[in-house]
Amino acid sequence: MAAEVPDQNTTVWFQNKFTRLAEANVNILTHALNYGSGVFEGIRGYYDEKQQELLLVRVMDHYERWKQNCGILRIAIPPSAEELSEITAELCRRNGFRSNVYVRPLAYKASARIGVHADDNDAYAIVVVPFGNYFGKQKGVKAGVVSWRRVEDNAIPGRAKICGAYVNSVLATDEAHRNGHDEAIFLNESGHVAEGATCNLFMLRRGKLVTPPPTDNILEGITRDSVIELARKELNLEVVERSIDRSELYVCDEIFFTGTAAEVAPIIAVDHRPVGTGEIGAVTQKIRSLYFDATRGRLPAYRNWLWPVYRPALEKTA
Ligand SMILES: Cc1ncc(COP(=O)(O)O)c(C=O)c1O
Repeated sequence: MAAEVPDQNTTVWFQNKFTRLAEANVNILTHALNYGSGVFEGIRGYYDEKQQELLLVRVMDHYERWKQNCGILRIAIPPSAEELSEITAELCRRNGFRSNVYVRPLAYKASARIGVHADDNDAYAIVVVPFGNYFGKQKGVKAGVVSWRRVEDNAIPGRAKICGAYVNSVLATDEAHRNGHDEAIFLNESGHVAEGATCNLFMLRRGKLVTPPPTDNILEGITRDSVIELARKELNLEVVERSIDRSELYVCDEIFFTGTAAEVAPIIAVDHRPVGTGEIGAVTQKIRSLYFDATRGRLPAYRNWLWPVYRPALEKTA
């Protein structure tokens, strides 16, 4: 992941206005900081040199999901998904970003006081930063099953991108790294494969693409959804949502992660065992290329996934 500290002069959206990142701060007693009562999102934008355009990927879907998930924590976000997308595009323009970017919307319980009960004092912010490759491993990722289990829906809903729930991912990633892996694979409480610490998982077995269903305590990824559509429509592949056993990861042909940050990331080893040939699989490679092209506006059928940042501004001034 691009680990640089963002420029503190970056323009961000905070307290319903544009301000500098250096000024977008919260009180130490903020409810969300103490109790994890926030909900975040992650959205990517890709800059295409040829079109001189920055394309936000499925930005409306991300904001719809965010608003729905905030409802789980009873956090209200008044603007519509469209208005939030407009604010995001405007942030990109104000910062003059002409590179790939990552958007981090964060909604949270904002009262600064002691006490776990949540009131209706809600706030949200949107930050956009330049962003590169998440894993930094173009030749494939080595993953390992960790001892931490994925949060259960009836404890902390994993589908909601709740800040506090990400302690689960932090612990898993730390364990995976210490065991020599690039990324963690979570099992759920019933022992089935759930997902990575920050990404969904797909496996190719007996010619079918298999991925765990939402009821296996996964985050219902938007990239997962995009990949299912691409695999079915462009590759004519059968995609099955069913539980996956841990040991299937050792005998299947291909595995890859999907996620906004992770994109389509081939997994070349699980628990120190090679996946398939130990090289990036042919189907994974095809899906990765399709996803790459679709998110750069190179596949007309998927242009509706993309929100151009600069074109509306150019049209306005024309
Ligand atoms: C736990 C978890 N699973 C899956 C994903 C992938 O979701 P998406 O494709 O919507 O980014 C993420 C990333 O946000 C995540 O944090």
